[in-house]
Amino acid sequence: MNKKIYIKTWGCQMNIYDSSKIINILEKNNYSITKIDLKADILILNTCSIRDKSHEKVFHQLGRWKKIKKKKKNVIICIGGCVASQEGEDIFKRVNYVDIIFGPQNIHDLPYMIDKFLKVKKKIIKINFGKIKKFDYYSKKKNLKTTALISIMEGCNKYCTFCIVPYTRGFEISRPCDDIIREINFFAKNGVKEIILLGQNVNSYNGKKNNGGICNFSSLLYLISKINNIKRIRFLTSHPIEFKDDIIEAYQDIPKLVNFLHLPVQSGSNKILELMQRIYSIEEYKNILKKLISVRPNIQISSDFIVGFPGETENDFEDTMKLIKEVNFDASFSFIYSPRPGTPASEFRDNISFKEKKKRLYRLQKRINKQTIFWSNKMVGSIQKILVEGISKKNFFELSGRTENNRIVNFIGNKDIIGKIIYVKITSINPNSLKGIII
Ligand code: SAH
Ligand code: F3S
Repeated sequence: MNKKIYIKTWGCQMNIYDSSKIINILEKNNYSITKIDLKADILILNTCSIRDKSHEKVFHQLGRWKKIKKKKKNVIICIGGCVASQEGEDIFKRVNYVDIIFGPQNIHDLPYMIDKFLKVKKKIIKINFGKIKKFDYYSKKKNLKTTALISIMEGCNKYCTFCIVPYTRGFEISRPCDDIIREINFFAKNGVKEIILLGQNVNSYNGKKNNGGICNFSSLLYLISKINNIKRIRFLTSHPIEFKDDIIEAYQDIPKLVNFLHLPVQSGSNKILELMQRIYSIEEYKNILKKLISVRPNIQISSDFIVGFPGETENDFEDTMKLIKEVNFDASFSFIYSPRPGTPASEFRDNISFKEKKKRLYRLQKRINKQTIFWSNKMVGSIQKILVEGISKKNFFELSGRTENNRIVNFIGNKDIIGKIIYVKITSINPNSLKGIII
């Protein structure tokens, strides 16, 4: 009988991508997906460990699933993702009703692990790094959304002192270039118009080509830009140290690269950047943006910030605030520093109170929100190129699309333009979306 899988995903886009691969792999092995956990034969949790809170959420969820396991003794509980990788066997000790633990690079082993568990009824764990096979499983679905995520590399070699990713996802491995192009061609043939390239450091992409050559990140961008039906290219995440001139040139040459860049800076203080081992200075960061703006004058920038890193003085924080104003960031992912076990920074002396950290985060986010509104206001009256994504979630009579700088625009239009790039004039702004009219 066809077994039913329920999967819950937390964390970054990478995890969302991994979950879609888990689904591809299991569907290929005759499992089917259910949206109701009570109906599932197999419960999968794809976890995130980037901050303490995301990590702990996993155990709360497992607490809820305990009730299901009590009612349905045969349900199999699997833990994947970065918490699986970080905690390994310890999860079995902490939660004795977990059956399978698999790491981010063992997704392809899952059908085999489930089969083995069913046969021998013994807990199974696989969290090794190695050759990544998950990329070999393509979706066969023909009816795709307008946007598709595609992972181009896995892991990270940077070892920023605060970050757990290099320990949970392993070394950087680039996916072969021809594989990526083949998958994007498949997407393009099946309705995808926009792709988001994923990796911890997409800029250090260095994939093998079938002809024996090597393809770097900018070359990959040029190759993708030649695929006709793909109208927009985005990528996540970049590390400033590898944001070299060839990528700036790509911005000059490839109109399909959106006028928006997420370039994490983390802090505006050189002292803190050094403690974080980010290996660039604020001057270098600003220099990248200067070059980028010289080829894309209207580009908008977003960033990640960590507030309250050990040793961050009031002056260091003011440097961050200064940078935020100067660059006029459009958006941010900003969080209070969370010590992660096994990382160097978790042993640094931290004498800032949590109350002070919260105060700083509040100030930072308030400032960025103000800037987001500034950028949105600036768009009123302008003509924007949007990708029409579908019917508006709020109003059935309206369509919804996305601008290059990630704003949702709602407008009246005919359904046959879904999936197309069109031009709209922005008429007003709401807190989470814009209104427009087709021109
Ligand atoms: N590869 C990306 C970031 C990956 S992690 C880069 O080059 O920046 C995503 C974000 O989570 C980071 O940019 C950072 O801002 C945040 N983060 C990572 N570890 C953290 C920690 N220990 N505490 C708080 N935020 C953290
Ligand atoms: Fe983490 Fe730094 Fe890599 S933030 S993912 S170690 S670039």
